Amino acid sequence: MEPDHPDPDRTRDFGEQLLGMLTGGMLSMLIGIGHRTGLFEAAARGPATSVELAERAGLHERYVREWLGAMVTGGIMEYDPADGRHRLPAAHAALLTGATSRNIGPVANSLRTLGTVLPQVERCFAEGGGVPIAEFAAVSVGGLGETWRHVYDEHLVDGFLGRVPGLHDRLRAGARVLDLGCGTGHAVNVMAREFPDSTFDGLDIATAAIDDAEAERAAMALPNAAFAVGDAAELAPDRPYDVITAFDAVHDQAAPEVVLRRIRDALAPGGVFVMIDTNFATRLEDNIANPYAPLSYGISLLFCVPTSIATGGSALGAVWGQELAREMLTDAGFTDVRVLDTPRPQNCMYVCRTEAS
Ligand SMILES: C[S@@+](CC[C@H](N)C(=O)[O-])C[C@H]1O[C@@H](n2cnc3c(N)ncnc32)[C@H](O)[C@@H]1O
Repeated sequence: MEPDHPDPDRTRDFGEQLLGMLTGGMLSMLIGIGHRTGLFEAAARGPATSVELAERAGLHERYVREWLGAMVTGGIMEYDPADGRHRLPAAHAALLTGATSRNIGPVANSLRTLGTVLPQVERCFAEGGGVPIAEFAAVSVGGLGETWRHVYDEHLVDGFLGRVPGLHDRLRAGARVLDLGCGTGHAVNVMAREFPDSTFDGLDIATAAIDDAEAERAAMALPNAAFAVGDAAELAPDRPYDVITAFDAVHDQAAPEVVLRRIRDALAPGGVFVMIDTNFATRLEDNIANPYAPLSYGISLLFCVPTSIATGGSALGAVWGQELAREMLTDAGFTDVRVLDTPRPQNCMYVCRTEAS
């Protein structure tokens, strides 16, 4: 039992914690500005006064100066009063610049986009219902989708697929592969380029995403990749697949149980299903020490849950967790389910094999 009067030390500590949170929220927005305006890239070229940095980035100095004030006092950049120059340390630039999955800028962009749908989600708290995915188009275009593209470029072939015993050999020898919920198709195109003797189908319910996927396939001149619009819950291929993948796509399904069963039935004997998803536990109490949990619960609340409910879905959410995922994979008919680590601590990989006949 807590006493009637709160412990003043605890209240003071929590006040400091709240100030840190508000400061972090503000700095997240300003990191997004730095990413979108090119200020971080310009700052990474060397120490600069506000005038020099504004000129370098082609921006108005007064705004740049105020932004620099937040960057310096927020511990993101350093300031030398002797010459009035601001410096982005190389160790910080590594996480704020470049076309790499380590660049936090696209994630800050996603938070900004999620912020634009707060009124709709708040309405859902009071009235129920969901928010259609069309209202979130910019999430995949400007933020998380961009990060995932870099993740695929850097890690998909070796860091993810390379950890699945026997999979590289199989893909080199020539396998029939399906990627479900392929989005804009970059993972499919990366795999098709790396394994030219295999064929890759990408399926997604979003027509615009499939158009982008096909455009990239054509630009990369890949004869062994193909894309189609379709509902994973209705998957029933003419010929079974040797390998099915689903990257960050199963927990967003309206009917995940149905989709997992369809995947199981669409695999040939001895086939393998590789599901990359979030790396959490199912029970809240088991996620408390996980530093990625608040972000994922938040993204789930502002994106995964309302978009699923908008389609009448079961709203699994992004933090459905390993225990529930294993249970659902077993219910779908997979008898051999293994969970592997990935190069990203916030993701794990489920490797599910069907029995060889
Ligand atoms: C978070 S995105 C991941 C996209 C892609 N795998 C990637 O990693 O970039 C989830 C994808 O699942 C797709 N999706 C959702 N429900 C679907 C369904 N019933 N059938 C097919 N695709 C679906 C969405 O359109 C979206 O492109």
